[in-house]
Amino acid sequence: MKILFKNVTIVDGTGVRKGKVMTEDGKIRKVYKERGRVQTGYDKAVDGGGKVLMPGFIDMHCHLRDPGLTQKEDLNTGLHAAAKGGFTTVCAMANTKPVMDNVEAVAANQNRGNALGLSEMIQVSAVTENFSDTVLDMVDFDGLSKVTPIFSNDGHNVDNPEVMVEALKASARLGIVIATHNEPETETVVRDIGLLKDIPGAKLHICHISKKATLDAIVDAKKQGLDITCEVTPHHVYASGLGYRVHPPFRSWADRKALLEGALSGAIDCCGTDHAPHTDEDKLKGSPGINNFETAFAMYHTAFDAVGMDLVRLSQMMSQTPANRLGLKNGLIKDQYPADLVLVDPDAEWQVDSRKFVSKSHNTPFDAKWLKGEVLLTMKGGHIIYDHGSFSPRSV
Ligand code: DOR
Repeated sequence: MKILFKNVTIVDGTGVRKGKVMTEDGKIRKVYKERGRVQTGYDKAVDGGGKVLMPGFIDMHCHLRDPGLTQKEDLNTGLHAAAKGGFTTVCAMANTKPVMDNVEAVAANQNRGNALGLSEMIQVSAVTENFSDTVLDMVDFDGLSKVTPIFSNDGHNVDNPEVMVEALKASARLGIVIATHNEPETETVVRDIGLLKDIPGAKLHICHISKKATLDAIVDAKKQGLDITCEVTPHHVYASGLGYRVHPPFRSWADRKALLEGALSGAIDCCGTDHAPHTDEDKLKGSPGINNFETAFAMYHTAFDAVGMDLVRLSQMMSQTPANRLGLKNGLIKDQYPADLVLVDPDAEWQVDSRKFVSKSHNTPFDAKWLKGEVLLTMKGGHIIYDHGSFSPRSV
């Protein structure tokens, strides 16, 4: 199947150009200049109407709640929400019931997610069995590294530094990424930077940073040449000072300003979602988290556009850098790269209505907010899986 995207502005982390994109057999076959002649036939043309074609978004951090917490979300609803949000690859955290902490469970869940033919799901593995805080319970990193590139006890802090040391050693040995939750935030990040210094080759990824002091510590670690990356969430760059429950909590305007500046300067690497669905009942009982897949791109674009960030930088943060960090050849619009694409209208303004979420849950403090930037169409592996409100899963 060959599909031609025409009448689009192509934006990825390398720049902006008008052109056409031909996809074939799951890959980008050719990127044409605006007036370039398309020499081969094709099965379908998508007229982009002058809108923007970007690499599909890659999320290093979400919660799909399946197995065990499927009253909040399941793989099917979560991956529909991801596709609607323009995400072509998402990393599902391990805090399910049971915890994803062994080869069989991680492989089976990942296969189950990917059999749905929607966005690709990378199942994150826990660092310790059942999130225990002792080195006696480290997971089988060697076996698991053949199934997943990313490990995290997210949702739970690693309090025990010895556990962190073992995880970082496994990272150095196997090339895997260790992603950390950090509570208390800055103190834990500073501790882990200290550990990272003594374990060359280890890859540390700091989840959902929310404070200026944390960012300052990360910038300093990067200056020392350490292999550290970090992500922000849509809600921490879009808002500050709210009481709505989420971990880490909403911070001050000064912290938010530092995050906006850090994203602009390149100090912050990635845009995650921390999509954390909860039922209304669980929210009333105090469960922390925000349902973000279907608003993430627009929240990021709205917040970043207001401080002068262009879509090239946003694409680096939403696609190119996460792909690099996960070791995926993806995240750019380039010949022979996977045909994982998203068509967006960066100027469309729309109002959040959580009742229209395809996610199973509706927990957001941003209902009725006006956002700028709409996902129109998502292609995964050469198949259009989402198109203006309709879904067409691939047969896999
Ligand atoms: O708000 C949050 N919710 N932060 C986390 O780190 C975990 C997540 C969840 O699993 O609900």
